[in-house]
Amino acid sequence: MPGDLDWVAKLETETFGPDAWTPAQVAEELLGERRRGFVAVDRSGYAVTLLAGEVADLQRIAVRASLRRTGIGRDLLAHAQQQARGDGAQRMLLEVAASNATALGFYGRAGFAEIDRRPRYYKNGDDAVVMSVGLGLDGSTAS
Ligand SMILES: CC(C)(COP(=O)(O)OP(=O)(O)OC[C@H]1O[C@@H](n2cnc3c(N)ncnc32)[C@H](O)[C@@H]1OP(=O)(O)O)[C@@H](O)C(=O)NCCC(=O)NCCS
Repeated sequence: MPGDLDWVAKLETETFGPDAWTPAQVAEELLGERRRGFVAVDRSGYAVTLLAGEVADLQRIAVRASLRRTGIGRDLLAHAQQQARGDGAQRMLLEVAASNATALGFYGRAGFAEIDRRPRYYKNGDDAVVMSVGLGLDGSTAS
């Protein structure tokens, strides 16, 4: 995982531009306390969760642009959820920009549902949509 910091930082910048984590933040997010980082084969993507008791926060998920829509994001999310379940989390939460239709589609397909909105949450004035999915084996804690 320490060997992944450089390419993750580069992919962060390519993916999120001005909102990308700095290299120091990448290190903190991938290696910090209560964080779990997941990297896909061939450096094609990564995901990071933050554990807080029964909740696992999905901090990030990103797939290299040329490889999107091939199931890599779904696999990364499945791994992150399996690990979170093993860590005792009951549900997974995330925040996503209301304008990020791709991510909203991706999360919706994965069973996440909107539970809240944070107006003007992002630097560009975008609202954040807060989404949640249950991690029970039958998805029964989806709230
Ligand atoms: C969101 C993201 C991680 C999805 O990764 P991905 O590997 O392309 O997603 P998958 O191929 O696993 O897609 C799984 C399902 O999600 C949905 N989905 C994915 N991309 C979609 C899109 N552009 N529009 C609508 N639905 C989409 C589909 O239902 C898809 O299943 P299908 O291809 O069988 O129809 C990727 O688009 C990405 O890196 N985006 C930029 C970073 C970002 O916005 N991250 C989220 C905020 S932190």
